[in-house]
Amino acid sequence: MIEMGSRQRRPWNGVLLAAWMAMAAGVISCGCLRGASAAEASFGDNFEITGAEDHVKTSADGQTWYLYLDNKTGVGFQTKQRYLFGWFSMKLKLAGNDSAGVVTAYYMCSDLDAAPERDELDFEFLGNRTGQPYVIQTNVYRSGVGGREMRHSLWFDPTADFHTYSILWNPKQIVFFVDKVPIREYRNSEKTNTFFPIMKPMYVFSSIWNADDWATRGGLEKTDWTKAPFISSYSDFTTDACAWGPAAAGGGATPPPSCAAATGYSWWDQPPAWALDDAQREDSAWVARNLVIYDYCGDRKRFPAPPEECALRTTSS
Ligand SMILES: *[C@@H]1O[C@H](CO)[C@@H](O)[C@H](O)[C@H]1NC(C)=O
Repeated sequence: MIEMGSRQRRPWNGVLLAAWMAMAAGVISCGCLRGASAAEASFGDNFEITGAEDHVKTSADGQTWYLYLDNKTGVGFQTKQRYLFGWFSMKLKLAGNDSAGVVTAYYMCSDLDAAPERDELDFEFLGNRTGQPYVIQTNVYRSGVGGREMRHSLWFDPTADFHTYSILWNPKQIVFFVDKVPIREYRNSEKTNTFFPIMKPMYVFSSIWNADDWATRGGLEKTDWTKAPFISSYSDFTTDACAWGPAAAGGGATPPPSCAAATGYSWWDQPPAWALDDAQREDSAWVARNLVIYDYCGDRKRFPAPPEECALRTTSS
């Protein structure tokens, strides 16, 4: 077993962390974000429910949402806006106890359904039998092509408390963070390519559903419905991004002027956000050494030659 408690988490150097967090919280305004959102608003302002409304509950103060899965149905929500590039962050607490077969997803996608040409960035949390560790799976799709799974174990119990899961997305890199620790970097290349999502604005989604045909130990562990409902909890959605508007409301094929003004000028698309810094690379290397369960880049059965983007990583174990 890995001794995860023994390491002090030091995801960012102090100064940069303070600056990033302040900017992420919208405390510092660069004056260039006209039309972009830097907000921690209520769920109702940002999201709409997809599916069974009676499977969503809200805390008395309106700040926490609970999604319920039972043997009838799961449920999800999606942002009203689409976004092209930015910082997307959410606190989640996952269904506890015996959650084998249950999957909670938190992801971004260019389309409202599984459109064949979609771009997508995924966090998926795969439940487990009582006392067994959750697995977090990430994936990146470009034009409907995914198959870029990585699976990690976590250094804490994600069912015991809220933790922050974030995506940084700019034209240079996509980074998946857990509590500010970069667990996965996905870099663009200088050349035109078919692996980096760069053109299509994405909605942010979350959902809880039954996936006991594949999720836990390859589908061997089935969902125990006597333990239902399974509940995942959400709070503190933060976005600092170029907001493009929903497709249905006439969001066009070209970015609104506010996007062009934000991209390249906002903190999330400036040199410090274009690559991991030294402390982040150190953390990322620690994750690579200790927490990776599966990495498609190393799967020679599936990919006899590693996919092009694999060579662009700046950290390795
Ligand atoms: C569940 O626990 C088992 C045993 O520790 C582990 O092998 C597996 O990776 C865990 N997660 C999933 C999603 O199967």
